[in-house]
Amino acid sequence: MSADASKSSGSVSPTVDFTFDGTPYRVPEGQTVAAALISHGVVSWRHTRVGEQPRGILCGIGVCFDCLITLNGQPNVRACVTRIETGDVVCSQEGCGFGD
Ligand code: FES
Repeated sequence: MSADASKSSGSVSPTVDFTFDGTPYRVPEGQTVAAALISHGVVSWRHTRVGEQPRGILCGIGVCFDCLITLNGQPNVRACVTRIETGDVVCSQEGCGFGD
């Protein structure tokens, strides 16, 4: 179905509501956490343990672990290979995510 056909049929694409550091966001269903954040202009969501350097997405395929984030209280979730779900609470992460 083309985009125009979708509009003419009145169908609405499903969306996902989530929060990032307390701010509510909405994205189309089926995106990764990283894609959802980037689509709202968020490109960094972690700081390294040494040097506190900002990190976001690098490889985008689950290999480098640069995109780690805290998802629903669970630290070290790879944002690039994890699908965002309605109600997810996404938080930026400092270092290893265990308060060290
Ligand atoms: S960006 Fe490399 S593992 Fe996610």
